[in-house]
Amino acid sequence: MQNVLITGANRGLGLEFTKQYSEAGCKVIACCRNPESAERLQALALFSKGQIQIIGLNVSVIDEIKELGLRLKDTHIDILINNAGSFGGKQTLAEIDYQSWSETLKTNTFAPVAIAQALKENLIAGSRKLIVNITSKMGSIDDNKSGSYYIYRSSKVALNMVTKSLAVDLQKEGITVIAIHPGWVKTDMGGKGASIQADESIQGMRKVIEDVCLADSGQFLDFKGQVIEW
Ligand SMILES: NC(=O)c1ccc[n+]([C@@H]2O[C@H](COP(=O)([O-])OP(=O)(O)OC[C@H]3O[C@@H](n4cnc5c(N)ncnc54)[C@H](OP(=O)(O)O)[C@@H]3O)[C@@H](O)[C@H]2O)c1
Repeated sequence: MQNVLITGANRGLGLEFTKQYSEAGCKVIACCRNPESAERLQALALFSKGQIQIIGLNVSVIDEIKELGLRLKDTHIDILINNAGSFGGKQTLAEIDYQSWSETLKTNTFAPVAIAQALKENLIAGSRKLIVNITSKMGSIDDNKSGSYYIYRSSKVALNMVTKSLAVDLQKEGITVIAIHPGWVKTDMGGKGASIQADESIQGMRKVIEDVCLADSGQFLDFKGQVIEW
């Protein structure tokens, strides 16, 4: 049975990842910052017959990530999905919330590195050896024609660079690291006007995740497997 660890598993894409991977027979370690109020995740776990383990994790707190590493010391992880993300507050040139920028960098950029550090041995012990960072096309410099969104764009472009460095650093351990853009998806973040539903995005990303190998490490792909320009 494959072990899949997902952050931000209580709603949006993280919840749908958890649903689909548990239905596919994987064991899901579903991390979220407030397990007590994660009602939909709890309901999924209840019906999953033990396939979903819920663990509290605020990814912007490095000590919590270190504790997660200690708690999972003897557990192999096949696929790590760094999904938890935040959009940030006001971010036009006219008005920028710098406190929110700092918090968003912790969540979107620092956390995937800290989690990779904490769970490296777990991934080495796994058979799939795969880290998936959920990024955004808004972190593509090539694609930026509309400007603004300083907080979100900078956190995701930095996540893309982090993905590449992790891919280089972990290649000798046989760990593949990729960044995937999930599409513009109808979640709290994507909004009602987004183009696709979460189930379509996750089906697409699961196929990409299934198909990638070490030779693809360091790539920036979309949920259909298309390469995105940096
Ligand atoms: N939806 C889109 O169109 C779209 C497009 C491109 C990329 N993405 C990326 O896809 C990922 C998932 O987005 P989504 O659309 O599912 O967003 P969402 O509906 O807003 O959900 C965000 C998730 O991240 C969690 N999270 C945020 N900060 C956290 C922290 N410090 N610790 C732990 N969990 C935290 C949230 O937990 P709480 O409930 O506790 O806040 C929630 O589970 C994000 O990385 C996002 O940037 C989304």
